[in-house]
Amino acid sequence: MTTERVIEAAGVRKNYQGGTEGAGLNGFDLEVTAGTVTGLLGPNGAGKTTAVRILSTLLEMDSGTATIAGHDVRQQGGEVRRRIGLVGQYAAVDEVLTGRQNLVLFGRLNHLGRAKAVSRADELLERFSLTEAAGQAVSKYSGGMRRRLDLAASLIVAPRVLFVDEPTTGLDPAGRIEVWSAVRQLVDGGTTVLLTTQYLEEADQLANRISMLKDGRVVAEGTPDELKTQLGSDWLDLVLADPADVPRVVELAGPFADGEIRVHDVRVSVPVKDRTKALVAMANSLHEARIEPEDLTLRRPTLDEVFLHLTGAAA
Ligand SMILES: Nc1ncnc2c1ncn2[C@@H]1O[C@H](COP(=O)(O)OP(=O)(O)O)[C@@H](O)[C@H]1O
Ligand SMILES: [Mg+2]
Repeated sequence: MTTERVIEAAGVRKNYQGGTEGAGLNGFDLEVTAGTVTGLLGPNGAGKTTAVRILSTLLEMDSGTATIAGHDVRQQGGEVRRRIGLVGQYAAVDEVLTGRQNLVLFGRLNHLGRAKAVSRADELLERFSLTEAAGQAVSKYSGGMRRRLDLAASLIVAPRVLFVDEPTTGLDPAGRIEVWSAVRQLVDGGTTVLLTTQYLEEADQLANRISMLKDGRVVAEGTPDELKTQLGSDWLDLVLADPADVPRVVELAGPFADGEIRVHDVRVSVPVKDRTKALVAMANSLHEARIEPEDLTLRRPTLDEVFLHLTGAAA
């Protein structure tokens, strides 16, 4: 595995003319290594699309630096554009044309000869499981199929780096899973992907590394596991048979809780530092108090909890 940096951004600032003060990017940093998927995760308005537009040369930054495969996005826009693909938040394919016609058109616009454009289109239709639907107008496609066609279109000229901006927003669960599998295939094919999303689960599923974005700045960065570990505690989850036992269980858990105990109906969640010790101690205390829980489990924090902890905002 190489460690070549294909995306590097440092201290990028962007304030929209006439926009809200502080909206945009406020010292955005990012490093993306070749052959990985990096998830740019953040709530609506965090600056994800702004970052993608700046890195893909569609928008000028106010200050800072950014390079794609070593080429400066400000000074060498042409070199950058030759190496990137962009799948925007809204579909770029033509509704009236068929899937195959769309891909052939993209190929022709990218200076492929007629025969080459057709063969490339068929190859990509196959790769994204769209061969059967290739002759249908895109207006007949489901949301998931459209997104897959979008991804295929962006790969016509095999970019080094593909920017994918919120690929599953607005899709139903089936469409979301289709798109996830398409993104995984891209990476297997060697493309480096920067994917933005508001969904923690999506970042957890697809990304090797995640940068958590809040108010135009990265507030945490690492592998999903590293981010979960950063939070420190694991959770001891208890599900009680009798709601009347909740106060007693909270009291029993007090001595080894590493932070605030959360109660939701008959579920008591206790943050703990020393996992095994806490589990044994809790089991003993419950046994002595003659409380038999329905469930007693140890778990890692979820990315949701990490995000909540770091930003105070639910993604
Ligand atoms: N063209 C624009 N003019 C003014 N403000 C904008 C413009 N585009 C985005 N913004 C503001 O910049 C912030 C970041 O937007 P954006 O990058 O689209 O966030 P995200 O993609 O994470 O939802 C938001 O507060 C948004 O309202
Ligand atoms: Mg956006």
